[in-house]
Amino acid sequence: MAKQVVFSGIQPTGDIHIGNYLGALRNWVRLQDDYDTIYCIVDLHALTIPQDPTEFEADRLRAAKMVIAAGVDPTTSLFYYQSQVPQHTELSWILGTLTQLGALNRMTQFKEKADQAGENLGLYSYPVLMAADILIHHAHKVPVGDDQTQHLELARDLAGRFNRRFGDEFPVPEGIIPEHGARIMSLQDPTSKMSKSDPNLGSRILLLDDPDTVRKKIGRAVTDSGSGIEYDWDNKPGITNLLEILSLFTDTAVDALVEEHHDKQYGAFKQLVAEAVVDGLAPIRSAYSSLEDAEVSRLMNKGALDARSSAEKYQVGVREKLGLTGH
Ligand code: TYM
Repeated sequence: MAKQVVFSGIQPTGDIHIGNYLGALRNWVRLQDDYDTIYCIVDLHALTIPQDPTEFEADRLRAAKMVIAAGVDPTTSLFYYQSQVPQHTELSWILGTLTQLGALNRMTQFKEKADQAGENLGLYSYPVLMAADILIHHAHKVPVGDDQTQHLELARDLAGRFNRRFGDEFPVPEGIIPEHGARIMSLQDPTSKMSKSDPNLGSRILLLDDPDTVRKKIGRAVTDSGSGIEYDWDNKPGITNLLEILSLFTDTAVDALVEEHHDKQYGAFKQLVAEAVVDGLAPIRSAYSSLEDAEVSRLMNKGALDARSSAEKYQVGVREKLGLTGH
């Protein structure tokens, strides 16, 4: 039986942080064994906020290198820049004609980003392009963090709507949202998500942060009043976030960690978390430094060629269903 298809994407804006890694990237890597995996640097999505073209070019390459350094193997997975595969935008237009404005008005990310970057049509229709990213490859599964749930729901709706109206074409995609790690919180405000766009750099640990920076950021992480290492999002969000991070980097269940460290002082516990993160990031940092820019660019170009031809095969069927075949 043919393997099911996994698709996911990451924006090349700001550096990739451990939230992206624990919520999504790590699962991208693991899924490579059992699925046909397709991963994408979604550069067109990133244009919805203003970018400096020269910096953007460099950001894209850096993001691609980080994804590879984190373990995505471009000879196993299809891995490419979204803008190099025009079928994404073609399908996005088509899906846009099936999208109700009410659905877009309900998107919380649009509201948040519009506040930061100003409104534009791209930002508004962003979830439609994301649906196209997923559907263009007939993906079955989409590994993401929990902030993408609402967008994923739109992709599912649009797949169903297209299928009912024009005949079966798209599988209805399902999210792969991990039980732990789907929402890593800011180190400076553990009630809000760790985010690439937070102006406070102390709020997040980047995949390429050196050991001292990791230690400093975790040392300064906001913790809670009282004492005791407990897993309690309501009353101890700071410590709970650190427990979650420790659990994921050491592959140890949270319960076992709580039992072992319950009586530790916050300071000693933070040191432990910092060392686990330093160890977890070491192989990524070292893989990153041995990647050559030219080689990665070559791999990305090859990925785009392959992605274009596989997307085109499906897109022929979509055009036929819509009466766009020209005969
Ligand atoms: P982006 O680039 O913001 O984030 C990439 C992935 O990281 C996850 N993530 C987190 N997970 C846990 N804790 C956090 N604090 C955290 N912050 C981010 C995100 O959920 C995401 O999985 N719209 C997408 C990109 C995209 C996409 C797609 C994803 C475009 N097309 C198609 C899947 C399928 C985004 O902005 O991700």
